Amino acid sequence: MEGDQDCMSKEARAGLDLFLGRGQCATCHSGRFQTDHRFHAIAMPQIGPGKGDGEYGNHDFGRERVTKNESDRYKFRTPSLRNVALTAPYGHCGAYPDLESVIRHHLDPGGSLVSYNAAATRMPNTNALTSDDAAVMQDQNLLGELASQSEIDRISLTDKEVSQIIDFLHCLTDPRSLNLLRDIPARVPSGLPISD
Ligand code: HEC
Repeated sequence: MEGDQDCMSKEARAGLDLFLGRGQCATCHSGRFQTDHRFHAIAMPQIGPGKGDGEYGNHDFGRERVTKNESDRYKFRTPSLRNVALTAPYGHCGAYPDLESVIRHHLDPGGSLVSYNAAATRMPNTNALTSDDAAVMQDQNLLGELASQSEIDRISLTDKEVSQIIDFLHCLTDPRSLNLLRDIPARVPSGLPISD
């Protein structure tokens, strides 16, 4: 995007072509920050305590919470993919532990939802996710509702093509983001001490 034609490997460039072309990623992840800043339903799994929505209060209705419009149910803002390789887990509630699984979700949202394995999530410690937190994923009716809202049609990509997209996504990492200690200010307006 800065015009440097040599900054990416052949595989990553193939991934970029897929991202912009057959993968249709850029219909939503568009522009310099790979986001249209809009809200879309892509049937992302729902785990964790939710936001108090639904029969048992463990759903998150997403954009509908703000607009009160039922047609916005399960829509979430397209996230920027800048530095995405550094920010696992993925999805609004961290449902997918790695880039491959969240990309595969996009290729077949309904299928991915049905075969979703909450035990594979990456949580701070193994006790962080209780069986209640995976309850939404046990409810077949709700899964059907989530899947039916998805705006994404199935896309068929080979394993090699998925790995090319992953290579491309790694190119969105700014090496300067690996260590942000330099951003710590020398002092803050409150005058309170800054810890190391
Ligand atoms: C219909 C719009 C749409 C399309 C097309 C789309 N995405 Fe997404 N993507 C989203 C939305 C919305 C989310 C966040 C959903 C959520 O959290 O519930 C997301 C999440 C992601 C994430 C997780 C980011 C994070 O920080 O959690 C990745 C990675 C991603 N998309 C990559 C892709 C790739 C690669 C493609 C193409 C194969 C693609 N997307 C196609 C809308 C889209």
